[in-house]
Amino acid sequence: MGRVLFITSFKGGVGKTTLAANIAAVLARMGNRVLAVDGDMGMYCMDMALGLENAALYDIADVLAGVCTVEQATVRCDTVKGLSFIASPCKKPEVIPARERFLELFRTLRGAYDYVVIDSSAEETPYYLSFAACADDAVVVCMHQSISVRAAEKTGLRLQERGFRSVRLAVNCYRAELARAGALPTVAQMIDGSAIRLIGVVPRDDNAVTDQERGVTAFGSGRRTASPYEAAVYNIACRIAGENIPLLHNVTKPKRIRRYTRVKF
Ligand SMILES: Nc1ncnc2c1ncn2[C@@H]1O[C@H](COP(=O)(O)OP(=O)(O)OP(=O)(O)O)[C@@H](O)[C@H]1O
Ligand SMILES: [Mg+2]
Repeated sequence: MGRVLFITSFKGGVGKTTLAANIAAVLARMGNRVLAVDGDMGMYCMDMALGLENAALYDIADVLAGVCTVEQATVRCDTVKGLSFIASPCKKPEVIPARERFLELFRTLRGAYDYVVIDSSAEETPYYLSFAACADDAVVVCMHQSISVRAAEKTGLRLQERGFRSVRLAVNCYRAELARAGALPTVAQMIDGSAIRLIGVVPRDDNAVTDQERGVTAFGSGRRTASPYEAAVYNIACRIAGENIPLLHNVTKPKRIRRYTRVKF
């Protein structure tokens, strides 16, 4: 049975969609069958991060409302083998489907994929709660600042109260030079300062922005050397797959992409 990952945060704009799209792509490049689901109802934005803008005829709301089948709403990603996608509607539907519809749909998806990666909204809407109810593991994304880590910790604890047994923290836009200078918390300080276990530390990296602009996901840019962002997402994907590797392994000095041996090109 596949696992359903819920990528979330308390605050907006912290990098959920970017991370969800790239984690999904790397898990697929590792040989898994992966479905990325845009769970940010009405925001319609993961399609761009996956290079699948306007590729979908139907969306997740259509599936939940019974307007189309899951297969009709599923778009295959041509550039990443094993990766599929279900879009969010461009307008949040007024009628919220019953929770049982979500649970039923994700039961089916678990049977068809190794991983289903849900990109959530920051706002705790009824949709957010229904998607959360379908997931096995949560990754709470925060920025590299104590205030953001604390907000993420609160989100993580709320998710634990809702029954999540596995909640992990991903620190995005990490700036090593400012941590070294004592201006921002170090990784050790963030580990000490949060009740939620870290799953990854992702550097601030312009490659993440420019790749996304072209609809390119991790390890798809054609660069010979990985970007720090790609190296960090690779580490997170390895940890999701059960491997135990150091948090910043190869992140500050990324290697040639052929050294990321679990990724297939
Ligand atoms: N590690 C990073 N380094 C540099 N830029 C990043 C990084 N991660 C994300 N970004 C950029 O930050 C912006 C916000 O990212 P994203 O849309 O993924 O956030 P979000 O949490 O999904 O936002 P929202 O709450 O609005 O859905 C995007 O322009 C993205 O390219
Ligand atoms: Mg988003």
